Amino acid sequence: MSFTILQKRELVPTLHQMEINAPRVARKAMPGQFVILRIDEYGERIPLTIADFDAQAGTITLIFQEIGKTTRQLASLAAGDSIADVAGPLGNPSAIEKFGTVVCVGGGVGIAPIFPIARALKSAGNRVISVIGARSADILFWEDRMNEASSELYITTDDGTKGHHGFVTDVVQNLLEHGEHDEHGERAIDRVIAIGPPVMMRAVAGVTKPFGVRTVVSLNPIMVDGTGMCGACRVLVGGVTKFACVDGPEFDAHEVDFTLLMSRLAMYLPEEKEALDCDLRSSVGEAAAEPTV
Ligand SMILES: Cc1cc2nc3c(=O)[nH]c(=O)nc-3n(C[C@H](O)[C@H](O)[C@H](O)COP(=O)(O)OP(=O)(O)OC[C@H]3O[C@@H](n4cnc5c(N)ncnc54)[C@H](O)[C@@H]3O)c2cc1C
Ligand code: FES
Repeated sequence: MSFTILQKRELVPTLHQMEINAPRVARKAMPGQFVILRIDEYGERIPLTIADFDAQAGTITLIFQEIGKTTRQLASLAAGDSIADVAGPLGNPSAIEKFGTVVCVGGGVGIAPIFPIARALKSAGNRVISVIGARSADILFWEDRMNEASSELYITTDDGTKGHHGFVTDVVQNLLEHGEHDEHGERAIDRVIAIGPPVMMRAVAGVTKPFGVRTVVSLNPIMVDGTGMCGACRVLVGGVTKFACVDGPEFDAHEVDFTLLMSRLAMYLPEEKEALDCDLRSSVGEAAAEPTV
């Protein structure tokens, strides 16, 4: 069975949205889960979060950043092309309950995975305050979707081209310090969930910890099999080794060893660079070999 790409578009430079026909995955998908895909039989297996799903239409939506060999190859596909394997849904779904007031934080490509979580939390009766951030306004995406999925939406850009000039953590800090009080004047933020680059998730955890607000992050370590067998995705949470693919991907942010996560993510950089360089060389070679009219 192969999985047909129904729609594909570049949302902002190097960030792509792809809708894939995957009825079995779409029927079971829940917010917070991911798939592991392989473009063809020779391909590397890469995990991508299910950013949206439609059980009736049998489709899932993926948002991915072109950063290396496989995501670059995926970006070169178009509607009508097929993907060999899409395994999932994998990982534990996000906890969707009535918590009260929940702050959903999405940074960069992390806006995509936070979207279905914010939407489900709002449907479950929570007051959802979303904070989304990007380096610059021109690479911000899904503002409209996040607006709909949230009771309140804050935008931040590192360069100040839209919303608050600064980081998502500034807004979270402000909400915790001044923004949310219940009728007794107490802090009334019940939960924070943050998804984005590890450095951002670590910063959010640092901001919420002194306030004692339960904070959840979705970790993105290197994954291979996605079934808890290979050990590639091991992370340290509260001093205990966990496998993000089966025990996560969401964990208590205040317990995660982010330094280890970041060092393990950089573990294969020379090999990844070599694979990309090799790919680039072969596409230049192909172009050079093409007959010119
Ligand atoms: C649960 C989970 C969900 C994810 N969801 C998304 C998403 O929705 N959108 C998105 O753009 N990215 C997502 N990622 C990251 C994505 O999997 C990597 O960007 C991708 O694998 C890079 O592959 P590459 O060959 O293009 O790049 P490479 O050059 O191979 O690697 C570039 C960097 O990507 C990371 N990476 C490489 N291989 C893997 C792998 N097998 N597993 C995880 N990380 C890897 C490493 O940090 C590496 O340094 C997710 C990762 C995880 C674990
Ligand atoms: S990806 Fe192999 S154990 Fe998690």
